[in-house]
Amino acid sequence: MGVIGRRGNEVIRLVDLNKHNYMGYLNLKVQPEQEQHVSPNVFTMAQFAFEDRAKLWGIAAGEEPVGLAMLRVMDASDEFSGTVGLKIVDQPFLGRLMIAAASQGRGYGRLALNQICSWAEQLPDADRIYVTHTEGQGNPGTFYERCGFRSLGRHLGGELLRCREFKSEATPIKER
Ligand SMILES: CC(C)(COP(=O)(O)OP(=O)(O)OC[C@H]1O[C@@H](n2cnc3c(N)ncnc32)[C@H](O)[C@@H]1OP(=O)(O)O)[C@@H](O)C(=O)NCCC(=O)NCCS
Repeated sequence: MGVIGRRGNEVIRLVDLNKHNYMGYLNLKVQPEQEQHVSPNVFTMAQFAFEDRAKLWGIAAGEEPVGLAMLRVMDASDEFSGTVGLKIVDQPFLGRLMIAAASQGRGYGRLALNQICSWAEQLPDADRIYVTHTEGQGNPGTFYERCGFRSLGRHLGGELLRCREFKSEATPIKER
């Protein structure tokens, strides 16, 4: 998808994965204590292969792989589609985001997330993006908060649900 930001002389990019570059992203790891919050990248890549409406990006700093992200667009068959009071169909869901342990804290996560939101905003009928996350020690809640994802005060699949609305005219979602 191209350049999403710069850090000094370093160019940060979201990259499409292919048979030539995927291995560099497959092996990226978070800090050991963060492993409870995100699936391994090999799992994400396997899952992506079976998703109908999904997008997978590598996150690169210069030529170096530093992270991985996956987004899926939900439909009526989605596991969350029956959730009462929640607009689900055609809305994007950030299914996975990770920055490798050694590359965290440099703003790559926020740069990637903002660009993913800009991409998702162009999807027909999308007016918000959801994410869920675990709540144990070292959870990414503060990161999402800083990136404009507010808690909806409820849980999906045992994880805290957050949302970032794209357009001001979107019907605000009430917290519970
Ligand atoms: C969460 C994660 C993607 C953040 O990536 P990152 O590149 O380190 O984050 P950034 O440097 O862009 O940080 C952006 C802001 O969030 C804050 N932040 C990031 N991680 C944080 C954490 N664990 N706790 C508190 N604040 C955090 C930063 O301090 C920064 O705040 P600022 O507004 O004061 O600048 C990364 O830590 C990670 O991969 N964690 C493990 C996997 C995970 O939990 N993924 C999410 C699954 S739902």
